[in-house]
Order: sequence, then structure tokens, then C-alpha cells
Amino acid sequence: MAPIGWGIAGTGRIARTVLPDFIHVPDAHVAAVASRTREHAESFADLAFSTLPDHPRPRAYASYAEMLEDPDVDVVYVATPHPQHKPIALAALAAGKAILVEKSFAATHAGASEIVEAARAKGLFAMEGIWSRFLPVIREMDLAVAAGEIGEVTSVQGDLFALRDFDPEDRLFNPELGGGATLDLGVYAINFAVGRLGSPTRVTAAGSLFPNGVDADVAMLLEHRGERTATLAVSLRADGPGRMAIHGTHGWIEVEPRFHHPSRIVVHRRGVIPQVHEAPQSGRGYSHELIEVGQCLRDGRTESTIMPLDDTLEVSRVMQSVLEQVGVTHHDDEELPHG
Ligand SMILES: NC(=O)c1ccc[n+]([C@@H]2O[C@H](COP(=O)([O-])OP(=O)(O)OC[C@H]3O[C@@H](n4cnc5c(N)ncnc54)[C@H](OP(=O)(O)O)[C@@H]3O)[C@@H](O)[C@H]2O)c1
Repeated sequence: MAPIGWGIAGTGRIARTVLPDFIHVPDAHVAAVASRTREHAESFADLAFSTLPDHPRPRAYASYAEMLEDPDVDVVYVATPHPQHKPIALAALAAGKAILVEKSFAATHAGASEIVEAARAKGLFAMEGIWSRFLPVIREMDLAVAAGEIGEVTSVQGDLFALRDFDPEDRLFNPELGGGATLDLGVYAINFAVGRLGSPTRVTAAGSLFPNGVDADVAMLLEHRGERTATLAVSLRADGPGRMAIHGTHGWIEVEPRFHHPSRIVVHRRGVIPQVHEAPQSGRGYSHELIEVGQCLRDGRTESTIMPLDDTLEVSRVMQSVLEQVGVTHHDDEELPHG
């Protein structure tokens, strides 16, 4: 199979952060980049050319629609704010492209469901870019849990706090851009819990809002079958360590901060010296999810078993419930972004 051609949709912070990790992705190249403006597209293409040795300069499109017509683009990495994910993902699927969509997959549960239905109807690959799931030490953690090292899992407890200066124009806070703590940070905590405990049967949330109505901090209680629980807290208006722990009937596993990109976990078992597992990430940690996409495409798979679409839907359902309880309503755009 020829090298996989990636098209990057959006030229903001995460697109620039992920870019250098393509060095660690075999048989792949960044074929194209799409932006709302010629200036951003060209400067991102320049950055890619200087960052990725041996890669040709990506084609720069000042239009998201035009990039989707590029035959060298096999998979589109959607790296825009949350409400813009849906129109880009649907247009990419309509153009026959596979998609890797940044977290949160969509701004609403309805939007996430629409994307998943479209991908399944077309038989095209789709995955949410939750990089944490693919990190080597998280894979080790899941193996340790599956091997029964901490017995039966009873609960998950964690936080993800990230103090940021309130700027109502910024994507992190702007309601038009899917701002707020739940879609930006809660998605990691809920994803972690759903990945270990499955679907919650009840979701309870309380929180506070910024002056513009998006969620500033949120505390969540997820109840799962078998009297298991997840207690999670996220915030954009206070700082915190970013701890996560899985508790079981024979011990517990500490995921060292920050839990959404750890390289170290500690397994604690009753009467046994704590056992440290270390597994460094390659690059900035995003290469693992990019490699998974390539592997799935080569294997002809339309979903990742590590980050299946049913889990994405479940996480979006929980987020929707949390947001309703704290009083935040989001929307997904219908039109492709344009300048
Ligand atoms: N995995 C991670 O570690 C991680 C970290 C941070 C963010 N994220 C996720 O990545 C996504 C983007 O976040 P970000 O922090 O990179 O955002 P950002 O810096 O604001 O960049 C988003 C980019 O999207 C494009 N865009 C398209 N329509 C837009 C619109 N209507 N308004 C503003 N920008 C628009 C813009 O590129 P053009 O000007 O070129 O069109 C913009 O630069 C979100 O889903 C976020 O949750 C993931």
C-alpha cells in the first residue's frame, strides 16, 4: 500500500503540536492542509516542510471543501474547535475520506451520532483522537487490570484542572466554539471512566459557569452496574494535579499526573511493595494514535478496537447529560468553516 496521505483541517494549536509527531509515523505523509485563510494554510505548509524532513511540502488550501477533493488525501485529521467538527467530518466522509476527529468528537451527542452513522453507512474509518488511550503506559495499565492485578475494579477517581485566563474570544471559553470545561477537559476524565467501567446507568453533575454561560468547573458522579462508581472533577478556573486512580478489591493503580498523557503508573497491592511501570511515549505522544489510524486503514478496519465508536458515543452521551445538568447548551455547525 502507498504511504497514507493525511489532510489536516485547521491550523491552530493542536494541529501545530501534533505535526512533528508525523516523523514517528511510518508510511505516512502530510499531503495537504486546509484553512479558512491562504495565509494560515501557507504558513502551516511551510512549518510542515521545515519540521518534517523527507516529507514533500503539503498542498495548502484556503478552503476546507477544496482539500477534501484532493485525491492524495486518504484521511482527514479534524483539528478545529468542537462545533466545526461535524460539518468537516461529514463532508470528508461524503468525499470518501477516513477521519480522525479531535476530542471532543462533536459539540453535541446528536452531532456525534450523526458522524458515526455516516461513517458506518459509508463503511469508512472514523475515530476520535483521544491520544491518552493509545499511550504505551495506559496500554500496560489495561493489561494489568485485565490480568486481575487489583482484583475486581470498583471505582475510578480523578481530576483534570487547568487554570486558564478567561478570554471569551478564545476557543476554550467561546460558546460559539464549543468552549467550557466539559468538552475540553471532562471528555478525558469521562473517557477514562467509560473505558474502565463501561456505560454509566446514572450521571449526576454540578458545576459553575463563567459570565458568558460556559462551564467553568464541573464535579461528576457516574454510577455503573455492579455498584461501581466514577467520581471526576474538571476545571478551567482552578489548578490541580490531574490525578487518576483505578480502585479494585485487591489494590489500586495510580496514574501519575497528568493522567491524560502519563508515562508512569504505580500498581499498589495489599502487602506488596508498589510496582512502578514506566513506558515513555514517542514524540509528543500523538504518534501512537496516528499509527493506530494507519494500521486500521492497512488492515481494512473501519474502527479502532482501542477507541471504538461506541465508546465515543457513550462519552458524548454522558457529556450531554453533564452539560444539561450544569445548564450549558452547545450546537454543531452545519456549514463548513470559511474565511
Ligand atoms: N489532543 C490534545 O491534546 C488537544 C489539545 C488541545 C486541543 N485539542 C482539541 O483540538 C481542537 C482544536 O483546539 P485548538 O486548541 O487547536 O484550537 P485553536 O488553537 O483555536 O485552533 C483551531 C483552528 O481551527 C480552525 N477553525 C475553523 N473554523 C474555525 C472557527 N469558526 N473559529 C476558529 N477557528 C476555526 C482555525 O484554523 P484556520 O484559521 O486555519 O481555519 C483554528 O486555528 C479541539 O477539538 C480541542 O479540544 C486537543
